[in-house]
Amino acid sequence: MAIQQTLSIIKPDATRRNLTGQINAKLEEAGLKIIAQKRLLITKELAKEFYAVHAERSFYDDLCTNMTLGPIVVQVLEGEDAIQTNREIMGATNPSNAFPGTIRYEFGESIDFNSVHGSDSPANAVQEIAFFFSKIELCR
Ligand code: CMP
Repeated sequence: MAIQQTLSIIKPDATRRNLTGQINAKLEEAGLKIIAQKRLLITKELAKEFYAVHAERSFYDDLCTNMTLGPIVVQVLEGEDAIQTNREIMGATNPSNAFPGTIRYEFGESIDFNSVHGSDSPANAVQEIAFFFSKIELCR
C-alpha cells in the first residue's frame, strides 16, 4: 500500500475539552505521522467554503456554525494508506456507531460534535490539504 497524506481536523468540541494531545496520541499509535499542524479560529464563511460539498444537506448550516465555536487544529497526517488508516482510527461519523478504541467512540459527543474530521478520498485529501496548508508547511 502506498504512502499517502490526509487532512485531519480536531474540532471545537474536542479542543474545548483539551483533547488535542490524547487524539494525537491515537493518531500516532495508529502509525500516522503528523507532518503539519496548526491551531486556528475560523469564520463561518471559511467553514462554508471548506464543507461546500455538504451545501445541500440539512445539517450544513449547523455544521458550519459548530466549526466556529472554538479553535480547531488542522493537521496533515502521513503514512501507509493514511486516508483509510485515519478513517479507521476516527471511527464512524456518528459516535453511537463507532467501535471501542476509536477517537469518536472515546471522545465524540454526538454526530454534530464528533471531535474529528478526516478526508474521505485521495482527491479530497489533496484538495483539503491545499485548503489549509502550503507545500512549505509540510515537514516530513
Ligand atoms: P465530518 O467528518 O466533519 O463531515 C461532515 C460533518 O457533518 C460530520 O463529520 C458530522 O459532524 C456532521 N453531520 C451532521 N449530521 C450528519 C449526517 N446526517 N451525516 C453526515 N454528517 C453529519
